[in-house]
Amino acid sequence: MSERTLILVKPDGVERGLIGQILSRFESKGYTIEKLKMLQPTKELLAQHYAEHEGKPFYQPLVDFMVSGPVVAAVLSGERVIEGVRSMLGTSDPTLAAPGTIRGDLGRDWGDSVQKNLVHASDSPASAKREIALWLA
Ligand code: PPS
Repeated sequence: MSERTLILVKPDGVERGLIGQILSRFESKGYTIEKLKMLQPTKELLAQHYAEHEGKPFYQPLVDFMVSGPVVAAVLSGERVIEGVRSMLGTSDPTLAAPGTIRGDLGRDWGDSVQKNLVHASDSPASAKREIALWLA
């Protein structure tokens, strides 16, 4: 059954001029871009988006990083797109993400404390529904 997921090209992806390459990978895989928007997220929106991580040591650096510049939000659709896109991203740590994945090919550590890993993607059908409503209702 076709499903939908939310991806965000994070501020590092936008700043490095990688929006086109990143979206192109999803299109080349065969997923459909249903909605697309560039926006400057507010702290309030990010607090809702990352609510499950509140209290973790990386929460505040993550929100500060995500509010530091514009992001691109997109809704992608296709069969098993949630799992497929997560697989395309690679692991969260961009230095260790496997070559061939988006983070593995395009990301790395830059010597600052925040983890800049280029793209967020929903991790479950429930997250996808919640995140699409937050970012691209
Ligand atoms: S957890 O606790 O296992 O759910 O965490 P994880 O899935 O690895 O990461 C959840 C999101 O937090 C981001 N993250 C960080 N951002 C900045 N700095 C540090 N140190 C850091 N550690 C984790 C990680 O990239 C995930 O972001 P999203 O946007 O969901 O990919």
